[in-house]
Amino acid sequence: MNRPKPTSLGAGQDTADRVRELLSRMTLAEKIGQMCLAEGGHDHPPAVLGDDLRNGSIGAVLNVVDVEIVNELQRIAVEESRLGIPLLVGRDVIHGFKTVLPIPLGLAATWNPDLAREGARVAALEAAKAGVNWTFAPMIDVSRDPRWGRIAESFGECEYLTSVMGRASIEGFQGDRLTDTGSIAACAKHFIGYGAVESGRDYATTNIPDTELRNVYLRPFRAAAEVGVGSFMTSFSDLNGVPGTGNRYILSDVLRDELGYGGFVVSDWDSVRQLKIHGLTENDRESAYTAVTAGVDIEMAGDAFGNHLLDLVEQGRVGEAQIDTAVGRILSIKFQLGLFENPYTDPGHLPEMASNRALNTARDAALQSIVLLKNEGGALPLAMDRLRSLAVIGPLADEAYEQLGTWVFDGDPGLSVTPLQAIRDVVGDRVELRYVRAMANSRSRVGDEFDEAEKVAGAADAVLLFLGEESILSGEAHCRADISLPGDQVELVRRMRLTGKPIIAVMLAGRPLTLSNIVDDVDAILFAWHPGTMGGPAIADLLFGREVPSGKLPATFPRIVGQIPIYYSQKNGGKPPSTETVVFIDDIDAYAPQTSLGMSAFHLDTHFTPLFPFGHGLSYTEFDYKDVRASAEEIHPGGTITVSAELCNRGDREAEEIVQLYTRDVAASITRPVRELKGFRRVRLGPGETTTVCFELNSDDLSFYGQDGKRTVEPGLFHAWIGGSSDADCRTRFRIVA
Ligand code: BGC
Repeated sequence: MNRPKPTSLGAGQDTADRVRELLSRMTLAEKIGQMCLAEGGHDHPPAVLGDDLRNGSIGAVLNVVDVEIVNELQRIAVEESRLGIPLLVGRDVIHGFKTVLPIPLGLAATWNPDLAREGARVAALEAAKAGVNWTFAPMIDVSRDPRWGRIAESFGECEYLTSVMGRASIEGFQGDRLTDTGSIAACAKHFIGYGAVESGRDYATTNIPDTELRNVYLRPFRAAAEVGVGSFMTSFSDLNGVPGTGNRYILSDVLRDELGYGGFVVSDWDSVRQLKIHGLTENDRESAYTAVTAGVDIEMAGDAFGNHLLDLVEQGRVGEAQIDTAVGRILSIKFQLGLFENPYTDPGHLPEMASNRALNTARDAALQSIVLLKNEGGALPLAMDRLRSLAVIGPLADEAYEQLGTWVFDGDPGLSVTPLQAIRDVVGDRVELRYVRAMANSRSRVGDEFDEAEKVAGAADAVLLFLGEESILSGEAHCRADISLPGDQVELVRRMRLTGKPIIAVMLAGRPLTLSNIVDDVDAILFAWHPGTMGGPAIADLLFGREVPSGKLPATFPRIVGQIPIYYSQKNGGKPPSTETVVFIDDIDAYAPQTSLGMSAFHLDTHFTPLFPFGHGLSYTEFDYKDVRASAEEIHPGGTITVSAELCNRGDREAEEIVQLYTRDVAASITRPVRELKGFRRVRLGPGETTTVCFELNSDDLSFYGQDGKRTVEPGLFHAWIGGSSDADCRTRFRIVA
């Protein structure tokens, strides 16, 4: 196509020179236009946005995914605006595009960064085919509250696991080079602390001490900055009294000065104007001032920048140099994406949607994400040769859309293979299969199909019970105060138990659930999260033992909501609980006097442990750990040490185990968590096979941020555990000596 050459410096020239040259030709209004990201998800965006594109008052759009329309918008920007600057085209490509992978929390349960990378790559290839060149992912908010609906979108509670999976996703989205076909810019969000919203209520306040901020919440963002993520997004939430979008300390002092991040920062949806609602500013003009001076480069879906920045600069309140810096960062990504050379998308140059590669990745990811929480008496896998009839019961067995989970604007439920379909495919006509949905949805309280369900279950050799939450029960602004199975599902479980048949619960959900009220009534639980397009085949393969479960929990499963916050890396406190120190409410004498004996940190009405700890996940084989050793008794700052363990597959199935390394800094200038994940690896072993698994740690891996905000490696005693979950008990010790 014919278009004016946007800059005199062409491809191959230094990006910084191209940015400088282009900036020198821009008017202030054109610069501010680059800082405006407009919503395009309405009827015929070229008609609505065309004039703004022509006069350069928009530099980016979001939510346009029709490639012809995207190309038309690019054409207007490139051919009909004065400088011909191409557009960023943003979209929430969170866990797939047409082909949907497990929700990010499920992906985290794979503990497999290669899958996270490949999953992001196939998502990027599909999104790029629709003209998208920028995704608002990954979300790397450490999430320790399962009530929060957005835990579904996270990689769970651990800053280390989140860092590893987040980094891999960014690598997948961005590819080797942003100019490669199918590479899209990623966005690390939400900066920062959004996962810590009070009582898990979306958009609520957060209060996070600085040491906690740096040691926990900042770590994944540091990793994202190191790997060169294209952009950061601010958080809706208030952090210690200053909302993320107006928080100069985190957006400038921490992100720019401390992390040295050079990409651009986008606000969250209309969060600039929300500064007024928060009570930080009196009007939109002050919101624009506060956000831009704090360090926001692009305003998403609002008009505070467009309406007020020009005046603010002309009045001298905002320096033009500040605007140049922001615009320079934005233009730099546009150059790096190669948009000035290739603004248009030719879908023919990209693989088909739902390619074999995409479907296979979705299937592998689902398979590795599913966690076997419980398997009493080896109820799973089902032995096909001993099975004549099977009852499939429950509201989530055959729900092509619900298995996709939250954030699937572009996901195609038509591609989904449901568990019921996949089970039918596996058993064929060898097993009589009867299906009763029993509930219209997971929240239903109409039990009029329960009699029929009980009858069908009673006549079968085993019952597959599909329970959980529909996709709408998690995700943004979809938080729950009670995270047990909704509706009458607990009653359905009870009715199934009455049949005396083996009950296999398969759970589809967007968060950890509290399962204490059903856990003893079922023989096995496969926790499948929202497993995506290929969830059905993955579940069926596991049920019938064609594959062996290998997922491990990326978040703790509490017994009851009142235990929250409960996570594996808590502090010890001065009075940690133990089985000797706890008492239960029912065991207390009616008129017991208060004493100080046996006082420790527990609740009177539940255990102090979770129902299932972080890192937990069973297999169809058994893995034994022994001989945890450190290669030396001491290391010096700057040195390395190897911690190893012997792992044996005691069973008769070849299987994969996720081996986990935890450490504890026993005494430090600020108290450190009882355990911190420091490494993990998927290891495949044949029946009876043994191997030694080694992890190398350097003293930096054992560092933390002290009260002065500085990273420190302190001499002292460390414990290290290697095992199959965060409650592993094989331990060794070593010292850092000065
Ligand atoms: C969410 C972001 C998302 C944006 C655009 C907001 O409501 O918080 O995570 O990227 O919308 O859809």
